[in-house]
Amino acid sequence: HFADAQRTDLMTITRYVLNEQTRYPESRGDFTILLSHIVLGCKFVCSAVNKAGLAKLIGLAGETNVQGEEQKKLDVLSNEVFVKALVSSGRTCILVSEEDEEATFVDPSLRGKYCVVFDPLDGSSNIDCGVSIGTIFGIYSIKDGDEPKLADVLQPGKHMVAAGYCMYGSSCTLVLSTGSGVNGFTLDPSLGEFILTHPDIKVPKKGQIYSVNEGNAKNWDEPTTKYVERCKFPKDGSSPKSLRYIGSMVADVHRTLLYGGIFMYPADKKSPNGKLRVLYEVFPMSFLTEQAGGQSFTGKKRALDIVPNKIHERSAIFLGSYDDIEEIKALYAQEE
Ligand code: AHG
Ligand code: MN
Ligand code: MN
Ligand code: MN
Repeated sequence: HFADAQRTDLMTITRYVLNEQTRYPESRGDFTILLSHIVLGCKFVCSAVNKAGLAKLIGLAGETNVQGEEQKKLDVLSNEVFVKALVSSGRTCILVSEEDEEATFVDPSLRGKYCVVFDPLDGSSNIDCGVSIGTIFGIYSIKDGDEPKLADVLQPGKHMVAAGYCMYGSSCTLVLSTGSGVNGFTLDPSLGEFILTHPDIKVPKKGQIYSVNEGNAKNWDEPTTKYVERCKFPKDGSSPKSLRYIGSMVADVHRTLLYGGIFMYPADKKSPNGKLRVLYEVFPMSFLTEQAGGQSFTGKKRALDIVPNKIHERSAIFLGSYDDIEEIKALYAQEE
């Protein structure tokens, strides 16, 4: 009977969040409504990604974004879908997207109390070759009734009420934390529902994988260089670590959460603040990693303690298994 119960007792993401809702009785289901609109956006992008090659959705959109990157058609399409879904939810007041130079202030008639920061399509360089890409989002809440201002979204990552990503790979997996652990849901295309498949994700305490773009080695600082050297030529007689680098943060972080190890995008001479953006890449992934028992470090401090000054600010990031991050922290401490 258990097998039957398993099949019929479907824990969908909506049901999961409603259960969570009991922890915020004051939210009158607003968070559930917000999340259902984010889930809608993910389902749409998942289907667009899956038929990108066929629907001539690959290739450049002929624009460049505030990052100076050439926007792909899917970057632009995904961004439009998420902005429209979030605004129409009636639960948001400020939106920050990698693809929009300025923050979006939602019209008072549709204004809610949540600020959403998001990377509508992460790993764009991998779209045209069919390698996993994803969407990353983080959610802040602001005090009810206040007139929203930019400062409300320039909060340290530790103030996020929720964060998550959706990975468009061999399956469509949404990983979410609302502040009490991390859970993974897989889209069942026949139901059009995200079903709980990875309950209570925990990062292994130590890992055997390091993940970094070795092509930047020439520009690395001393601690990063030493750490990577130690991964390849361990002094304590242990076996060398494996290198896995996909080039989509969502895919590299998802593997790190499940298998353990360390994901790094260090600062270097060329990019003194690294490449990854604080609000919608570093913060959500750091929030999830800490909620899963790991750590996330910038080379100077705990990543979630950064107080951003600009919405597209960048930071170095080292995240993953608790013990592996302790090692890199010790190497940076020696530099002080
Ligand atoms: P995006 O496609 O949203 O601009 O993000 C790309 C990021 C991130 O996904 C990945 O970890 C990193 O760029 C890879 O950078 P390199 O190609 O410089 O290694
Ligand atoms: Mn980009
Ligand atoms: Mn990205
Ligand atoms: Mn992106």
